[in-house]
Amino acid sequence: MTALNRQWTLARRPRGVPTDADFALVHSPVPVPGEGEFVTRNLILSVDPAQRGWMDEGGNYFPPIPLGAPVSAGIIGEVIASRNDDFPVGQRLYAIGSWSDYSLLGAGFVFRTLPADHDIPLPKFNSLLGGMGCSALIALEEIGKPKAGETLFISGAAGNMGTIAGQIGRLMGLRVVGSAGGAAKCRYLEQELGFAATVDYKAEADLAAALKRVCPEGIDIYYDNVGGPMLEAVLDNINLHARIVMNGSIAEYNDIDPRPGPRNLWNLLVKRASIEGFLLPDFAANIDPALERLEAWYRAGALDAREDVRTDFENMPAIFRALFDGTNTGKLMVRLDGASG
Ligand SMILES: NC(=O)c1ccc[n+]([C@@H]2O[C@H](COP(=O)([O-])OP(=O)(O)OC[C@H]3O[C@@H](n4cnc5c(N)ncnc54)[C@H](OP(=O)(O)O)[C@@H]3O)[C@@H](O)[C@H]2O)c1
Repeated sequence: MTALNRQWTLARRPRGVPTDADFALVHSPVPVPGEGEFVTRNLILSVDPAQRGWMDEGGNYFPPIPLGAPVSAGIIGEVIASRNDDFPVGQRLYAIGSWSDYSLLGAGFVFRTLPADHDIPLPKFNSLLGGMGCSALIALEEIGKPKAGETLFISGAAGNMGTIAGQIGRLMGLRVVGSAGGAAKCRYLEQELGFAATVDYKAEADLAAALKRVCPEGIDIYYDNVGGPMLEAVLDNINLHARIVMNGSIAEYNDIDPRPGPRNLWNLLVKRASIEGFLLPDFAANIDPALERLEAWYRAGALDAREDVRTDFENMPAIFRALFDGTNTGKLMVRLDGASG
């Protein structure tokens, strides 16, 4: 029997939180590589907030996914057919593919290759030891410019980026404070990851006052994963020469109408503070050293990440929504190979 390629495609552009009807599951032939190309059988499909922007008419830092095309996504795959000597059959790698059983790729899509004999659970390469871990480390160092003893505040702190940035912040000697949705997530941050304090943003009527309570000496570095009202609250609490790392704005990704910006941007001038967007490809030279440091911390037991590994590929739209209702319990992904470890 000929193998088929199951692919989740974008049926229409979502308005607000994506619905099932925005996607379609189609079956296509398994692709065949042309000169310089190779085909992966996908083992893990990543489910990321940034994909929401790729579904919009204007895209974000990636061009929009064309209607009817497979939903672009990070994948961990194994090469099964190749016309590129650098990516032989059997090579495992992390690349930008799509929510599909198989991906047709070229070298430009590959973020990293995986060592043949690695002893690390595969999902870790889509969280701590992939683009996410690298982004947390590089953004914190290059834009956050941390100095021991400073206060680092992280929004979306219980998520993948937030937990990694928070642990690295502690390794760098920072006082780490975070916000997350719900008491259970806040307890996890304080009791298991050593956050000095937390804010359950869903339970606070006045976010700026809540930040003043947990950061009485002000905020020196803000690692922003959410944008929206939290950014405004942080701007009311920044210290002189504070650095704001704009890593993501998930609170705004499903907005139908553009929302007004923070009313207090002026505080950047008052505090001679900075705000800078971060995107990993701008720091290509930092990636390999960052991966080495992350793996060393991981092997030493000093740093880890939680993964939320699903297996129900046929429910991809609902899995994607978990990012926006906060029910994911770690780096969200779908495993296709049925294996563990
Ligand atoms: N710049 C880069 O290179 C880069 C790379 C990767 C990710 N990112 C960005 O980093 C952020 C976090 O991504 P992640 O992969 O680590 O996802 P994640 O935090 O593991 O999962 C998303 C979390 O966002 C929170 N959230 C959802 N809607 C929210 C809202 N309206 N207000 C506040 N929090 C909300 C939810 O947690 P709660 O229960 O706490 O609400 C949810 O669990 C995203 O903005 C993403 O786009 C940037």
